[in-house]
Amino acid sequence: MTAAFSQDVSGDMLEYLADQEQKSLLRFLTCGSVDDGKSTLIGRLLYDTKLIFEDQLAALERDSAKHGTTGEDIDFALLVDGLEAEREQGITIDVAYRFFATSKRKFIVADTPGHEEYTRNMATGASTADLAIVLVDSRQGILRQTRRHSFIASLLGIRHIVVAVNKIDLVDFDQAVFDKIVADYMDFAKDLGFKTITPIPMSARFGDNVTTASENMPWYEGRTLLEHLETVPVENDYLERSFRLPVQLVTRPNLDFRGFSGQVASGRVSVGDEVTVAKSGRTSRVKEIVTWDGNLETAVEGQAVTIVLEDQLEASRGNMLVSPGDRPHVADQFMAHVIWFHADAMMPGRSYVLRTEADSVSATITTLKYHIDINTFAQEAAKSLHMNEVGVCNISTQSPIAFDSYRDNRVTGNFVLIDRFTNQTVGAGMIDFPLRRSQNVHWQALDINKEARATLKHQKPAVLWFTGYSGSGKSTIANTVEKLLHAKGRHTFMLDGDNIRHGLNRDLGFTQEDRVENIRRVAEVAKLMTEAGLVVIVSFISPFRSERQMARDLFEPGEFIEVFVDTPLDECARRDPKGLYKKAIAGEIDNFTGISSPYESPESPEIHLHTIGHEPVELAIQIETFLNGQ
Ligand code: ADX
Repeated sequence: MTAAFSQDVSGDMLEYLADQEQKSLLRFLTCGSVDDGKSTLIGRLLYDTKLIFEDQLAALERDSAKHGTTGEDIDFALLVDGLEAEREQGITIDVAYRFFATSKRKFIVADTPGHEEYTRNMATGASTADLAIVLVDSRQGILRQTRRHSFIASLLGIRHIVVAVNKIDLVDFDQAVFDKIVADYMDFAKDLGFKTITPIPMSARFGDNVTTASENMPWYEGRTLLEHLETVPVENDYLERSFRLPVQLVTRPNLDFRGFSGQVASGRVSVGDEVTVAKSGRTSRVKEIVTWDGNLETAVEGQAVTIVLEDQLEASRGNMLVSPGDRPHVADQFMAHVIWFHADAMMPGRSYVLRTEADSVSATITTLKYHIDINTFAQEAAKSLHMNEVGVCNISTQSPIAFDSYRDNRVTGNFVLIDRFTNQTVGAGMIDFPLRRSQNVHWQALDINKEARATLKHQKPAVLWFTGYSGSGKSTIANTVEKLLHAKGRHTFMLDGDNIRHGLNRDLGFTQEDRVENIRRVAEVAKLMTEAGLVVIVSFISPFRSERQMARDLFEPGEFIEVFVDTPLDECARRDPKGLYKKAIAGEIDNFTGISSPYESPESPEIHLHTIGHEPVELAIQIETFLNGQ
């Protein structure tokens, strides 16, 4: 049995530490369904490698008596499931990282949850892993979760799989059960691109084949799990790759010192080396490599450093310092695989915050090319991506970002998508490649610009964006405002939901996806019209905050004026000018706003109109007054 590090530290400390440095590191994770025994397995590994400190052990025995599900035995899962909430729910809810070592290797293990909605944690925990242990319950065989997690592991670039056929004691250590599960798994995983797939029959609870060979399965001649983990060859080749330092922070304590701080994502860099700023292509030499513990001659992958260059180059947060001979892509459109985590589906056209290792920009899924069926790997047409689904998308960012293909670099090729309002991470992505068109379509600089056009009209362009329920009075008030403005010699144009849906947006209905696209198009049109120097009046229900925010972001500060036509739903239904509420309530119209589709009220509109008890003309004057005061 190999000794774990905690026991030996008291010996020759320095020698011990030196030893640890020499050892290779294996990062792995466990995944599988709820109750497959992931936490128990990790607990067993740690316990058997004698890593449990005496006091932890005492606490464990106490807790096992209190919460345990294994009677008098120690419940190993409790060792790993440190979170109170988990114990209460009986499932693992967050990624827990453990470090342990044997005489042969160091290990970092991410214990990732198995519950359907926790794909997010799996994807985040897995992004640096070399190997995945896929747990399968002997009694259940390959489940949907097994497939999903294996597929995600493959997408994330994990190349080594252990199929841990667990709880084999519960099927009498039967070889036939094991063989069947292995055959099923091999058949399913054959096209997933794994370099090694190693099946091991085991009982994590009783320790069979975890760290010691089981006497209960003479038919199994392979290695124990620990032996395999200690010997499987892994490609820790990030050192050999091109140098990448995503800039997290620019430090400038005085005039002669500008340092670019971040963690080296791959490769190495030494004082005197040439480095290039990814986005500008400007090159300089490394003058100093500063760290908390003094200056370095060379920095390698994983180290947090501040780099000082010989020349004063611009590179703000989000940029990258890279090797001049192999530069990353810089583009604002690319294709990527996206894993969706959130209960609210991913919507093409909607704007999210896209965050890479160092950068953070607004981004839109321009096209969802297809969704991948995890059972058959078939590519299927889809309008949106639902929770736990994987799809391939074209993404467009508001400004160019620097990145590598995920295939070349897992650190600089991945990103997460964040909801603008809740700040939740809703998806993760792996970039495939930049899209050519973004490189060949350049913004044409025009001599007659917005300002020139607006000056000729003696006005300041603006967008009055009316939002509110159908029947709230948007069109009536908007129409009155336009008449007032027109009478004063202002150049205006009205974009009205019902009218635009007869032409430009004739192809769109009222599903969430279609409404997102409806608003995206009209916002772009309104933008063109402000470029023409007009005061644009937009009257659309525009029920979703995200899209109103997306529209707002297209305009200059102060240009976008959100007008919330606040008429309570029951009043709109009572007025029912087009008889649509009556039909919607009778179930004759689907996805009707307020009845069977949500409306998200503006939180801080520039103008908030309460319509009850006020004439449209009064409200229109209120808007005109606001405009004059601008
Ligand atoms: S939006 O939600 O996508 O912004 P938009 O303003 O273009 O909607 O269109 C709303 C108009 O379409 C309503 O005023 C109503 O006349 C009509 N309509 C038809 N079906 C629906 C529906 N299911 N929900 C809301 N409005 C509908």
